[in-house]
Amino acid sequence: MKISVNVQLLNALVYYRIKKDWVRIMRQGLFITFEGVDGCGKTTQIKLLDEYLRNLGCETLLTREPGAKGLGEKLREILLNYDGNVSSKCESFLFLADRAQHVDCIIKPALEKGIFVLCDRHTDSTIAYQGYGRGVDIEELKNLNNLATGELKPDLTIVFDVDIETSAKRVGKEKDRMESAGIEFFERVRKGFLEIAKQEPERVKVIDSTQSIESIHEKVLELVNGLK
Ligand SMILES: Nc1ncnc2c1ncn2[C@@H]1O[C@H](COP(=O)(O)OP(=O)(O)OP(=O)(O)O)[C@@H](O)[C@H]1O
Ligand SMILES: [Mg+2]
Repeated sequence: MKISVNVQLLNALVYYRIKKDWVRIMRQGLFITFEGVDGCGKTTQIKLLDEYLRNLGCETLLTREPGAKGLGEKLREILLNYDGNVSSKCESFLFLADRAQHVDCIIKPALEKGIFVLCDRHTDSTIAYQGYGRGVDIEELKNLNNLATGELKPDLTIVFDVDIETSAKRVGKEKDRMESAGIEFFERVRKGFLEIAKQEPERVKVIDSTQSIESIHEKVLELVNGLK
């Protein structure tokens, strides 16, 4: 009981300190994307941030790619579970189709209502996996990403960086179609995310995700609280 009161007090203080910024953000929404190789801890951290923001009284939308509600769920089923041959270009277009639907029908309407949108994977996963990983032309993918999103950019993107050995241990033995690609593929994907962060340091921040879940969460809060 004592602990929960203290947490609320702390949240109230944090809210007070950054109130001006939150008020601005709450009027127009805030879009944060979580990126990184499989098993790096995206879903774990997005849930923790979601809980934190809800405790502050913010309205949030926790969503994911591929496979937000509706059509996205059908596309996710194909992308992760189809057991036949899928060409790299076809895979790219399926992810992009999912993204276009997601942005137009779910993300933009939520942002317009001032909702905090937290998205588990987005445009950078396409560049890292299909571009750096599979070898599809990166500049073309960037253009297609822009077409799919209508040039909507996240306010903040966090890349959770782990070595491939740690990532493989966390994923375990039950792998989906994407997770079953080889180690070299994942090395290229990891490098891809780090390269994206170098190219867009304002938007994309990297957190060393070999640390504990709690210390990573604290770093996520620092980044979110630092948003202007
Ligand atoms: N910092 C951490 N230290 C140790 N284990 C962790 C850490 N973060 C997450 N895990 C564990 O690793 C596993 C994978 O985490 P999580 O599902 O959050 O990763 P993910 O990036 O969402 O993976 P995917 O790309 O497959 O969806 C989970 O069992 C989770 O509890
Ligand atoms: Mg996940």
